[in-house]
Amino acid sequence: MPGSWTSAGIDLHLELPAGRGRRAALEQALRDAIREGRLAPGERVPSSRALAGELGLARGTVVEAYSQLLAEGLLRSRPGAATEVADAPGVRPRPSSEPAPRRLTADFRLGRPDLSAFPRHEWVRATRQVLKVTPDAELGPGDPRGSARLRVALAGYIGRARGVVTAPELIVICSGFTQGLRIVCDALAAGGARAVALEDPCLPDHRATVAAAGLQVRAIAVDEAGARPDTSAASGTDAIVLTPAHQAPLGATLGRDRRAAFVRLAAQHNTFVIEDDYDGEFRYDRHPVGALQGLAPERVVYAGSASKSLAPGLRLGWLALPSALLEPVVEAKRRADRGTDVLAQLALAELIESGTLDRQIRRMRLRYRRRRDALVTSLARCAPAMSLQGIAAGLHAVTLLGDGAGISEADVLAAARERSIALTGLQPFWHRSDSAAQGLVLGYGTPPEHEYESALRRLEALLRALA
Ligand SMILES: Cc1ncc(COP(=O)(O)O)c(C=O)c1O
Repeated sequence: MPGSWTSAGIDLHLELPAGRGRRAALEQALRDAIREGRLAPGERVPSSRALAGELGLARGTVVEAYSQLLAEGLLRSRPGAATEVADAPGVRPRPSSEPAPRRLTADFRLGRPDLSAFPRHEWVRATRQVLKVTPDAELGPGDPRGSARLRVALAGYIGRARGVVTAPELIVICSGFTQGLRIVCDALAAGGARAVALEDPCLPDHRATVAAAGLQVRAIAVDEAGARPDTSAASGTDAIVLTPAHQAPLGATLGRDRRAAFVRLAAQHNTFVIEDDYDGEFRYDRHPVGALQGLAPERVVYAGSASKSLAPGLRLGWLALPSALLEPVVEAKRRADRGTDVLAQLALAELIESGTLDRQIRRMRLRYRRRRDALVTSLARCAPAMSLQGIAAGLHAVTLLGDGAGISEADVLAAARERSIALTGLQPFWHRSDSAAQGLVLGYGTPPEHEYESALRRLEALLRALA
């Protein structure tokens, strides 16, 4: 008899061995499932009636098989309760979850917002509302660009908040910036592109993503004013990835002249700029700097993400594309996964339409600004030689550990590890780490609000001890 799935309460695949009586075969199949851990202690077995119906056996055969396993101690039953797998010797325990990560005393990792501030109630409300009004057809495989409702909402939002010039039909929803970068690279590679330039330093994952698409990675030099358009790689590649609002990780804002220079270069060499606007909503000291894309919508791919404004676990990002790239990028997205989780997309659309996202960002901007100020004060107190840069925006700041600082990046990271303080070093961000500057990238958005003060105190104590 071929294997069968039972749908009686739980799904249970049973392979009834051939060549024996049906009862013995069923007993053996249940024994195997229990001993191999496919049926774990505490798991209810299907009712005898349901299992008999499912496997095409007489109910009495199942009752007898269960009685035998009860007698063997592999199953247990209590009056009024379903029969379940026992904690017997030889029965594999339920697989435990992964060991809990070591508890951190202070968490300054890069790339995370304060996850304790995720607007849970608003997300529940939005999801409930979306489930009420969304037609069934929208749950089917749809447009690989993503939900039309979200694309309309986003076109309005990024136009209003970031100065992006686009239209809903030019937007592709993706699984965060990371997938956005990958599918743009796939589209470029499919069109014959060979090399992409990234800022030096930049996120190591972004270099890996470009390389994984089969493209050569080139380096664009960065100075205190951001990426330098006079670097040779800026004119010799098929695309340039930039973080104009807040250079990742050093923190400069790309000035007007350099923005214009990059756009000119892209037009002259018939290439594209990929604008990573990962934390553009969080600007503290000056008037918000708009997106570079607004200068040349046909040359710049604008990429946004909910990873800083809401949570990285949502895996929601968006691309506003030049029309020349629309078709190949949509095809790359379709091939990658056919589209992003539609319920999450619709919930985000609801948050944008209701003004909730704007309110959340305004609230968090004030919070992160207070944290940034406290970090500046704290460092000035405990390590006056360490100056912070990149503090006008975003959720992280950088302090360089120059020759004068007297301590190396590796020393600070080792001492931090000993105190269970999570810090990020600057070295991995450089394309070549051998001769590059050392430093710390401090993600001050990461700790939950009620732990921020104590996290700062621990950081202060660490730096004092190293001074
Ligand atoms: C430079 C940079 N770009 C993009 C992102 C967002 O990536 P994703 O949307 O894939 O989470 C981050 C998040 O930390 C980042 O630091």
